[in-house]
Amino acid sequence: MSDTASLHQRQIDYWNGEGASHWVERQAQTDAMLQPVTAALLTRASAMPGNHVLDVGCGCGDTTLRLAEAVGPAGRVTGIDISAPMLAVAADRLRGFPQAGTLLADAAAQPLPAADLIVSRFGVMFFGDPKAAFANLRRALRPGGRIVFACWRRFDENVWARLALMAAYGHVPRLPRMDPRDPGPFAFADPGHVGEILDAAGFTGAAVDPVDLAIAPLAGGTLAETATQLLEIGPASRAVAGQPPETVAAVARDIEKALEPYQGVDGIKLPAAIWIVEARA
Ligand SMILES: C[S@@+](CC[C@H](N)C(=O)[O-])C[C@H]1O[C@@H](n2cnc3c(N)ncnc32)[C@H](O)[C@@H]1O
Repeated sequence: MSDTASLHQRQIDYWNGEGASHWVERQAQTDAMLQPVTAALLTRASAMPGNHVLDVGCGCGDTTLRLAEAVGPAGRVTGIDISAPMLAVAADRLRGFPQAGTLLADAAAQPLPAADLIVSRFGVMFFGDPKAAFANLRRALRPGGRIVFACWRRFDENVWARLALMAAYGHVPRLPRMDPRDPGPFAFADPGHVGEILDAAGFTGAAVDPVDLAIAPLAGGTLAETATQLLEIGPASRAVAGQPPETVAAVARDIEKALEPYQGVDGIKLPAAIWIVEARA
């Protein structure tokens, strides 16, 4: 297996194993935390009644559901994912929307239904060969169709992820270094890299726009509850995996202290930095 094929397969295995259970268990919390991302993404996507839309890497279907409402009964939305357990949650949530369906497929390689618009909330950074994968996405779009997706900017700009990992590093070994462009949540941090992928895949007029947000990891949560939540998501969860409970508790106490400056009248909100990317087929 080539390097890119084995990186890709590792993602498929992850999203059908550990990654799936993690996301399925936290579906409601994740959707609440990512609400500001969803709002920015769907405003930019501006799906219209009657549109045919693909939601790539739709996971548990939050954005698919909202897109189904936007396109209405005359439209069509297909939530595509490689993760059978996450897609099962999406299918359940989409009951009652005849215009919406799910498709268990590798969006990087399999032929996809024809669409006017492709949307993705953090679902397109996990391809082993992103140029080939985006070419596959482009082939699904009708001429002039658009792709609009959200991806994270640099890790160090995303306080929600950095704060917990830095606290963890006070107590546990550093995670192995990886190539920043390897498949993963921060693979599209470099806007030049994203532009190259879109150009190589045959998209035109690419715009990679920064959006700064404040996200609540746990709406209404105390400092301690938010610290626990931050230890269960992002790179910090991998850094503390398998550590004894007293070490994890010490990390949680440090996160709590680091969170204090971010507590305001409307709860604990942390800076998040994303790109909203748009291009045409
Ligand atoms: C970070 S999660 C985001 C899920 C969802 N969009 C959300 O925001 O809640 C990434 C998603 O991309 C999916 N994914 C990764 N590689 C994929 C591929 N090659 N084809 C289809 N889906 C893929 C994963 O299974 C997972 O559901």
